[in-house]
Amino acid sequence: MSGAKNAALPILISSLLTTEPCTYQSVPHLTDIRTTLRLLTGLGDKSDNQGWLNGADELTLRADHIKNFEAPYDLVKTMRASFLVLGPLVARFGEARVSTPGGCAIGARPINLHLKGLEALGATIEQTHGYVEAKATKLRGAKIYLDLPSVGATENLMMAASLAEGTTLIENAAKEPEIEDLANALNGMGGKVHGAGSDIVQIDGVEELHGVTHRIIPDRIEAASFVIAAALTGGDVLVKGARAEHLEAFLIKLKEAGVALTADDAGIRVQRSNAIKSVDVTTLSYPGFPTDLQAQLMVLMTVADGVSVITETIFENRFMHALELDRMGAQIKLEGNRAIVRGVRELSGAPVMASDLRASVALILAGLVAKGTTEVSRVYHLDRGYERIERKLSQLGAQIVRVKG
Ligand code: UD1
Repeated sequence: MSGAKNAALPILISSLLTTEPCTYQSVPHLTDIRTTLRLLTGLGDKSDNQGWLNGADELTLRADHIKNFEAPYDLVKTMRASFLVLGPLVARFGEARVSTPGGCAIGARPINLHLKGLEALGATIEQTHGYVEAKATKLRGAKIYLDLPSVGATENLMMAASLAEGTTLIENAAKEPEIEDLANALNGMGGKVHGAGSDIVQIDGVEELHGVTHRIIPDRIEAASFVIAAALTGGDVLVKGARAEHLEAFLIKLKEAGVALTADDAGIRVQRSNAIKSVDVTTLSYPGFPTDLQAQLMVLMTVADGVSVITETIFENRFMHALELDRMGAQIKLEGNRAIVRGVRELSGAPVMASDLRASVALILAGLVAKGTTEVSRVYHLDRGYERIERKLSQLGAQIVRVKG
């Protein structure tokens, strides 16, 4: 397994909180990581990461030359996680100017909770010309209640609060494993973050943070995508390094669907001999079923026995893959935030177009079991979040080649 993209992005950004070098291991080779490096370089980071660019999985960042406090539109629009520089910049330098992200293919991506939280910490926020400008002489700890357990808002606020004066409580915080990984990285820097992974995160601000060496956790979404690949094709596959404790809701659903799974320290082993049974799924914040696995699970349901109802509660427009799957012979009816999937005997290969990251992997999964050839276009979405996927799938016996891009 590669390191988790969604853990690596905030953790790389957290290096902005110190002048000392921060070394990160198991950093996946993804375009989102390259975008993060461009973002940090644009702020003045002069780290040399030739080793990582040449294929090593470790890189070192040192934010001791930061002179610019702006994250421009062209970077934030390519990668929304760029918005996470707002908290660290305003906490350490007292100012930040970050483009607002706008919406994306899967729905609106508001930032109100990030801003409300930073205001509670004492920052002055202004929004002009598509940018958020935050200023503060010194942030002060506060009690913050998030109306929704937003992953990004929890991360932005945890980073900002680490350099604030006094104690911050984030209530109704997101509980994703990536939040815990960020807390561990911050604590490795001398931060005092407690309770990450639970509803309430307490951060006791410190005067200064120092450098750290931190290994990124394995990517649970990538791991689960491979579990589905094995379940779909009826293989016997060990997804090495996958952590079952990060995927409980997902694994329970797959077992319900008739997939034989065993997990131990080596990873998750998938075996399938029986037909797939349809299951109903509702996406929820962690520890619920992840929205980032909804598209992949839908592919499994397209070839299951019976009818499955998939309800998406996190993003309002995350069914673009359903229309492409229909082109491959799936029978999916969309009703608001519900997809009703009637299993068919077989999918058939077709040219299809990826609309976003998780949709792109879903189409590849569908192509693995479809009769004939499937050509997925716009695979640049895939490269944002899946490291060398065609190589990994080929090793498992898939017939997959990158034609372009
Ligand atoms: C992160 C993940 C993404 C995943 C998502 C939900 C990263 C880099 N990305 O995105 O892969 O799909 O979590 O698990 O980690 N919301 C607000 N106001 C805000 C912020 C969010 O209303 O200020 C809403 C969003 O519209 C959405 C929900 O909260 O409906 C969850 O969003 P959030 O958890 O913030 O997702 P991201 O951090 O953007």
